[in-house]
Amino acid sequence: MRTRWMAMAAALLCLLSGFIATSPASAAVHVAKYDFENGSTQGWSARGSGVTVGLSDTAHSGEGALLVQGRAATWHGATITPPFEKGVTYTVTAFARLASGQPPSTVAMTVQRTPAGGSTTYERVGAGTVTDAAWTELSGTYTFTADSTDLQLYVESSDATSRYHLDDIVITSDGDPTRSGLASDFETGTAQSWSPRASASLTPTTAVAHGGAYSLAVSGRSASWDGPSRSVLGAMAKGSKYEISAWVRLGPDVTSGNLGLSLERRLDGTPAYQRVAAPKAVAPGEWTRLKGTYTLAHDVDFLSVYIESDGGTFPFYLDDFSLTYIEPKPIQTDIPSLKDTVPFTLGVAFNRAQTLGEHGQLLLRHYGGVTPGNDMKWDATEPEEGRFTFTEADYLVNYAAEHDLKFRGHTLAWHSQTPDWVFKDGDRDLTPADRALLLQRLENHIRTLVTRYKGKIAAWDVVNEVIDENQPDGMRRSKWFEITGLDYIRTAFRVAHEADPGATLFINDYNTEWPRKREALYDLVRKLRAEGVPIDGVGHQLHVNIEQAPASNVEDTIERFAALGVDQQITELDVSVYTDFVSTYDTVPQDVLAEQGYRYKELFDVFRRHASQISSVTVWGVADDGTWLSSFPITRLNPPLPFDDELQAKPAYWGIADPSKLPPLTRRLTVPAGTIVVDGKRDLEWDLLPDTPIARVGDLSARFQARSTGAGLYVMAEVGDPSNDKNDSVTFEAGGTPYTVRRGGTHAHGFPAHAKRTDGGYRVEALLPLGMAGTLRVTVHNASGGEDIAWNGAPTVVPAIKLATASKAAPVVDGTVDALWARSPEIRTTTWIQGTTGATARVRALWNGAGDHGGTLYVLAQVTDATLSEDSPNAWEQDSVEIFVDPGNGKTKGYDDDDGQYRISFSGRQTVGGTFDAFAVKDNLTSAARIVPGGYVIEAAVKLPTITLAKDALLGFDVQVNDATGASRTGAVTWNDPTGQSYLSTARWGVLRLTK
Ligand code: XIL
Repeated sequence: MRTRWMAMAAALLCLLSGFIATSPASAAVHVAKYDFENGSTQGWSARGSGVTVGLSDTAHSGEGALLVQGRAATWHGATITPPFEKGVTYTVTAFARLASGQPPSTVAMTVQRTPAGGSTTYERVGAGTVTDAAWTELSGTYTFTADSTDLQLYVESSDATSRYHLDDIVITSDGDPTRSGLASDFETGTAQSWSPRASASLTPTTAVAHGGAYSLAVSGRSASWDGPSRSVLGAMAKGSKYEISAWVRLGPDVTSGNLGLSLERRLDGTPAYQRVAAPKAVAPGEWTRLKGTYTLAHDVDFLSVYIESDGGTFPFYLDDFSLTYIEPKPIQTDIPSLKDTVPFTLGVAFNRAQTLGEHGQLLLRHYGGVTPGNDMKWDATEPEEGRFTFTEADYLVNYAAEHDLKFRGHTLAWHSQTPDWVFKDGDRDLTPADRALLLQRLENHIRTLVTRYKGKIAAWDVVNEVIDENQPDGMRRSKWFEITGLDYIRTAFRVAHEADPGATLFINDYNTEWPRKREALYDLVRKLRAEGVPIDGVGHQLHVNIEQAPASNVEDTIERFAALGVDQQITELDVSVYTDFVSTYDTVPQDVLAEQGYRYKELFDVFRRHASQISSVTVWGVADDGTWLSSFPITRLNPPLPFDDELQAKPAYWGIADPSKLPPLTRRLTVPAGTIVVDGKRDLEWDLLPDTPIARVGDLSARFQARSTGAGLYVMAEVGDPSNDKNDSVTFEAGGTPYTVRRGGTHAHGFPAHAKRTDGGYRVEALLPLGMAGTLRVTVHNASGGEDIAWNGAPTVVPAIKLATASKAAPVVDGTVDALWARSPEIRTTTWIQGTTGATARVRALWNGAGDHGGTLYVLAQVTDATLSEDSPNAWEQDSVEIFVDPGNGKTKGYDDDDGQYRISFSGRQTVGGTFDAFAVKDNLTSAARIVPGGYVIEAAVKLPTITLAKDALLGFDVQVNDATGASRTGAVTWNDPTGQSYLSTARWGVLRLTK
């Protein structure tokens, strides 16, 4: 086996390092070459008992050849398992010569194989008359089309006892094996080139099959990484992209498990492991497809794909594996270079594969800066203490230097992708007593990296993601912080500055566009800079989504930090097409991609406006085929970048390069029923929803809302326009008729309207006499010059937003209904989201402040439900009450960190939902449950540490009652949200107002 590998590896190495014997006419490719020059038989062995296959120095070329002797039958000879794939045509040539004194005979190359379900066949590839006087070339072509096993390529002779020499056996294929792909369907009833990585057993089986009759049963795995693997060496070319796909199913009696597709590559014995498809949940009893693309970026002498779990050693089935070459589309060369359209460095996160082929061309054409997505992180650069690995980082830095790209180093200290040893002393976890040791390690790591690339890396992310705005002091409870406090940040910046005083040093974080995080980061930066810590700049990652955060938040953040006088960079921009952590598209709708284009536009509008504060904007990935969002926070299709999977420009590209080329977009507006007093004052009703932004251009900005009523459509716009001109105006165009209201208050007759001065602008209110008709257009005009700004879209009328009140009082949370509850009015759940009858609740809320920070919301739910069940394993299918709280009444699609779904079952079981790990809300709930005749009572206290609870504050709020019958949910009803999506989005919850 070993020698065969060496031969294959040698042949393929030739192939991979450019010794490819392609002639334009035939496009033949070397598949294998056996020259017997390395002192081995290169995998050839004896066929027939008594036969020996050894080496001789009678050679056709070079110094070595095979000598076959001891034959006693015509079919005896030398044999090898050939690297033949079904459906490919191979040319085999070999040189043969009889040992001296042997009479001439016919020497033949033959293939033996056993087709699935048939009997063994013997097919001649090529033959010739051979003598002892000279070398004779034997040659022929061979192909087979039926699934077959036990392939042998052997050399035999018509003379049963001929002794002969063989040399220079070459196999070429008519097609390029790196283009033709591979497949396994197990229909031969064999494991078809698959073998276990460790001790797992692989058994072809007809118990289940994805296609045909057979699959491969995998059992007895010794570890999560143990399972079936197959070599794909020679089937993938460096710089080419492949789709790898396999179908998997859980083994008998396995109820859950996550499986993924990985690849192991080696060069000179050094392995590297890569995920092709991150492990994902496989539902019991169903086939699940694991699929991903992979670009081979390295020289390899070992390459194999395998299936692994992310934990556990459960059995599973594998079927219908395929590896398919993806023909690259040429990149577009008739579109502007993105980097030329912006007044700052436009960078991109990259890795080695993205410097090759079309990816490399795309990168160089559109980007002027680079940052390694992973290759400079601690786990990549110092996996063991003092053992530094710089192969990838060096390559990337050299590439950047060669192509004149600005380099951002990412990242020196982080809580993630940092090896365990950093925080351990042997097996012992470091504690604050080990502060000096940890800081010493940090210093050594940073000094080594920054010194190595001194002068070549313009900017470093020195510390990454150190803020947690949900902590009282704003600091993330990382091991760094727990052991050293703020000292790791101080040390990191000091050392980085000492090692390369010319580099710009950044503190980098995500969600900096959200006010609480913004302020926590701001306070830290100000404090540390005041101490003299050399923080030069703030990096805003800007992992945003199609809806959130509003571009105006980003602008506020940049303006806030501008006041500190620090450099700012956008460091990891991407725009997820999802607003939550669970949704998935099979294909992303065109209008979502168009919307994404507009999001890029509005963000780049902000960046361009602040070009004097922003030195660089980095996009987090070269194209959609290489985004981290395809596996974070879950595995799903998520194309967040300007270029698609095929490297072609998306609307997102045009949003940056030339927004006039964006496809038209009909925006959507939710218009609740409601009544407004048209007097230019902002009624409470308007505050139940956030305003919809129109745009900002220069000094002009505007946002608006609408309410629907029998009499028509109430509209309200808030305009920011500091240059006061009475002819400034807002025009609402509904159903084709324009209604213009001027800043001075004048408007045409026939409809009530009003304008009122505000801080830095004015507000307009009007009642448009029409009912809701098709589209609405809002245009804001600045009479003192400049472009108009407009919003164009389709309104959808929905029921009025319910408003309830909560009085101030703190009840005892024990399941008994205190008299205090009577202070707040009762509301009822009447909005059915499943079924039309079943359990309902009467609900009251109270609140209590906690000085100037935080407070508690109390909720009482008296549920009518005659039969109670917790039979289902799913909490939402048990008799239970869910309380939804959005502390800022942000009404966002998706959840912000501090938005929570608090569920309490009739027996008191709690479950809490929020952002994907609910980290900021999971400890907020205290509750009591009590069964009473005809139902149950829930009392809950929800801590709200992120806002100040005070009279008149508005909370997004809703209550849902789940009604279980046995193990399924048969009814569900809410107070306000009719969508059934309360667990995904806060947008349609009702509102709770705090009163005295
Ligand atoms: C991501 C990479 O893109 C992924 O490939 C990797 O698996 C995880 O890390 N914030 C950061 C980046 O600062 O380093 C992260 O990059 C994305 C979030």
